[in-house]
Amino acid sequence: MTNTNDLTLVLGGTGKTGRRVAARLTERGVPVRLGSRSATPRFDWNDQNTWSAAVDGVTAAYVSYSPDVAFPGAAETVAAFADVAVERGVRHLVLLSGRGEEGAERAEQAVQESGAAWTIVRSSWFMQNFSEDFLLDAVRAGVVAFPGGRVAEPFIDLEDLADVAVAALSEAGHEKQVYEVTGPALLTFSEAVAVVGDAAGREVVYVPITPDEYAEGAIAEGMAADIAYEFTDLFATVLDGRNAHLSDGVQRALGREPSGFVEFARRLAATGVWSAQ
Ligand SMILES: NC(=O)c1ccc[n+]([C@@H]2O[C@H](COP(=O)([O-])OP(=O)(O)OC[C@H]3O[C@@H](n4cnc5c(N)ncnc54)[C@H](OP(=O)(O)O)[C@@H]3O)[C@@H](O)[C@H]2O)c1
Repeated sequence: MTNTNDLTLVLGGTGKTGRRVAARLTERGVPVRLGSRSATPRFDWNDQNTWSAAVDGVTAAYVSYSPDVAFPGAAETVAAFADVAVERGVRHLVLLSGRGEEGAERAEQAVQESGAAWTIVRSSWFMQNFSEDFLLDAVRAGVVAFPGGRVAEPFIDLEDLADVAVAALSEAGHEKQVYEVTGPALLTFSEAVAVVGDAAGREVVYVPITPDEYAEGAIAEGMAADIAYEFTDLFATVLDGRNAHLSDGVQRALGREPSGFVEFARRLAATGVWSAQ
């Protein structure tokens, strides 16, 4: 837990979760330093020389790894970062992790063994993947072709996830907690896309495709082949049914229910984000 005059580093601070965490901490009067390649000082996961300046004077850090904490090498990099952070005086690490991912669990273990106080926010799929990330263009185009099969996923609203991370960073009682955060209901990708289409007032269809078809499409659109196949391997793993259950991390951390997908879709539709381009 930080005091209000303690500097908190928010890694991935310009990303989907990090910018929400940074905004909430700032609202609470907690001084924040953003950590990313576009921040000052620059922080780059791939350049260890940038890490010391980012953690200097920092007492707590939100650790969102990019591109994905489950990818090969991520756990080792997070472990090395945790060592530098603790050596330089960081006392609390809050790690954004993913459910059912072996690589992510190794990153969790590294943070748990770092010597700092720790909190793990182990997340299900973000609802905002449909509105701020890789599924947005597909929703706008009206066809979401994705290797999600018929599996059900308890999508989480990032407003809830950010509330959990900020509670962990700024309130007592969240140390040594693994908060597995999910939304309140299981939806298949087909159901989720239908809810988005209904809220947006347009036809949006879900087309289940194979992981290879997805990777080939992503590569054709410019994604590096190794990254495309790492993502599809990860999708195949986490969407094999292992995560098709609800967890109570939001309730345990915040003492309230997480918000649902329909509410998210209505809120986002009202912003016009899903209007056809
Ligand atoms: N999407 C999901 O459904 C889901 C579910 C569970 C867990 N997760 C986890 O969420 C994490 C991603 O968080 P997010 O979605 O909030 O981030 P995001 O929206 O993907 O944004 C990435 C952030 O990281 C920064 N960044 C990118 N490359 C970097 C590098 N080499 N060094 C330092 N910073 C870098 C970016 O800023 P710059 O471009 O300025 O560097 C940006 O701030 C991943 O670890 C993933 O495993 C995702």
